[in-house]
Amino acid sequence: MPIKLVTTAAELRSESARLLGAKRGSSQGLIPTMGALHSGHAALARTAVAQNDVVVATIFVNPLQFGDAVDLDRYPRTLEADMALLDAEGVDLVFAPSVDEMYPGGQPLVRVTSGSLGEKWEGASRPGHFDGALTVVAKLLHLGLPGGVAFDGSTPAYRAYFGQKDAQQLALVKRMVADLNFPVEVVPVPTVRSEDGLALSSRNRFLSDVERDAALVLSRALRLLEARANAHEPLDVESAVELVRSQPLVELDYFDVVDPLTLEPLAENCRETPFRGEGLAIIAAKVGPVRLIDNAPLDS
Ligand code: PAF
Repeated sequence: MPIKLVTTAAELRSESARLLGAKRGSSQGLIPTMGALHSGHAALARTAVAQNDVVVATIFVNPLQFGDAVDLDRYPRTLEADMALLDAEGVDLVFAPSVDEMYPGGQPLVRVTSGSLGEKWEGASRPGHFDGALTVVAKLLHLGLPGGVAFDGSTPAYRAYFGQKDAQQLALVKRMVADLNFPVEVVPVPTVRSEDGLALSSRNRFLSDVERDAALVLSRALRLLEARANAHEPLDVESAVELVRSQPLVELDYFDVVDPLTLEPLAENCRETPFRGEGLAIIAAKVGPVRLIDNAPLDS
């Protein structure tokens, strides 16, 4: 069946019910996106298609999560190319609502707050960003609930897919789903990288060739820590930081090793004693005009 585009919540619900019925399906996957899709999103779609009978992607550039109107305006809108990518991966349905459809009364009065977890790291340089992102994710998770019942009369399984590249967003969505009892399983999908290691991001298109080369230092620094963790050696965060600072086009914002769920820095002693357990190395830096984030799960 060719991919279908809907723009209203009512159509989304009726199409989801129709597709589940037509496919005698018992599971639905949801992939929330803002469009400008790349191979990282294709990996989300591939995972969702492999795990569900019906897959819905959403494309909505959410004004609530942009602090700056200029950033919102210049966010790339590439619906035709996005539909082609999702179609090639076997996604059934795309929900691409207007701002009025999502926020009919204007800015919502009641919102999700991300608490202290949303104020650190990315939240510190983008105040309000995670409140806006969680508010729209909450709405999309509700709107994307499988329509109708499965062919055997049970409630269809419901899964939502998020990239590990946005580690803080992923931690917050997991926390919201647990704290507020959303009936959905959150499925993390590993970061996709280009061959030279750069994590794929819609922002990479704003890097010049020289800046793109400079940006490779982020993944190189993460690899240094990964190698240390895999060898059960103390994490030499200082050397990794020095490596990043040696690249003049890169302005480091933060680089640390944190708990993957709480994003609290791990105890200093992981830098002095052999690394054991789980951690997440996180980095953010400005490369030319572009702010980039990346991370590496450390498991030893
Ligand atoms: O990661 C994104 O693309 C957005 O933050 C999301 C989850 C689609 C919410 O707008």
